[in-house]
Amino acid sequence: MAKIAIVTGASSGIGREFAHQLAERPEVEEVWALARGEEKLQLLAAEITAKPVRTFTVDVSDPAQVATFFETVEAEKPEITWFANNAGWGKFCRCDELTPEESLSMIATNCSGVVNMAIRALPYMPAGAHMINTGSASAFQPLPYVGLYGATKAFVRSYSRAMNKEVKRQGVTVTCMCPYWVGTNFFDNVHEHPGNAVVTKYEVMYKPEDVVRYAIRDARRGKDMSVYGMVNKFQHVAAKLLPQRLVMWVFLKKQGLK
Ligand SMILES: NC(=O)c1ccc[n+]([C@@H]2O[C@H](COP(=O)([O-])OP(=O)(O)OC[C@H]3O[C@@H](n4cnc5c(N)ncnc54)[C@H](OP(=O)(O)O)[C@@H]3O)[C@@H](O)[C@H]2O)c1
Repeated sequence: MAKIAIVTGASSGIGREFAHQLAERPEVEEVWALARGEEKLQLLAAEITAKPVRTFTVDVSDPAQVATFFETVEAEKPEITWFANNAGWGKFCRCDELTPEESLSMIATNCSGVVNMAIRALPYMPAGAHMINTGSASAFQPLPYVGLYGATKAFVRSYSRAMNKEVKRQGVTVTCMCPYWVGTNFFDNVHEHPGNAVVTKYEVMYKPEDVVRYAIRDARRGKDMSVYGMVNKFQHVAAKLLPQRLVMWVFLKKQGLK
């Protein structure tokens, strides 16, 4: 039985970094990299030399594609020693500037996709295995103009922390990684109206390699959350202590919004 790492959203940014770093781990013999675009996955596979990389074109928001992927998993019965459940995207705009279809599609990727992948992967995860679900610092409080995206990540955070308790007896840890702003292609598509971007002030932009290294370390320590960076840690604590209305007001002020 091969010991594998599965990474969704592996073709870019944080997921690409997960694929690189997990390929270096001794308990990983193969990396299975998932995303929608095959071309970028092939580039990733060519970059990683430490272990074999298998690529799978899977849209995690499509239950039929996820089911087909797990037919391969069931046929080969690998041990999933690491699972970076990471695919996701967001838009920063007023709620009604997203069409209902776009809104539901974001939920289908960031929430339903994460759940579908997680519960299908669990039976193949032995004691000692780690699942890292990608949340976000936007999960700590409501953020106007990041509203739906933040709400999907609040779902991931809550779901993951509860799941961590539930699967403890299986010997599996579940960690919700909650990155602050990270320099990736995420921002290429985040503005619904490029000429009229609303959220534009990013006081710090962390590096994907640092965020991922920290998350892997936290997962190995059995933590149910990974919050990388001083600014991020500060916001995490502030969002716990201050009234959410005040936190939203500060955010809007910082962005020059009302
Ligand atoms: N960058 C940040 O500041 C930041 C902060 C907090 C949290 N995050 C979260 O981190 C995760 C990774 O984002 P990133 O920053 O690395 O952005 P990114 O560079 O845009 O990467 C997103 C990855 O997800 C894949 N993807 C998107 N929708 C998918 C779907 N329906 N099915 C399968 N794969 C899909 C993309 O590939 P394809 O387009 O080819 O499918 C790509 O590989 C996301 O969950 C994001 O919400 C990012």
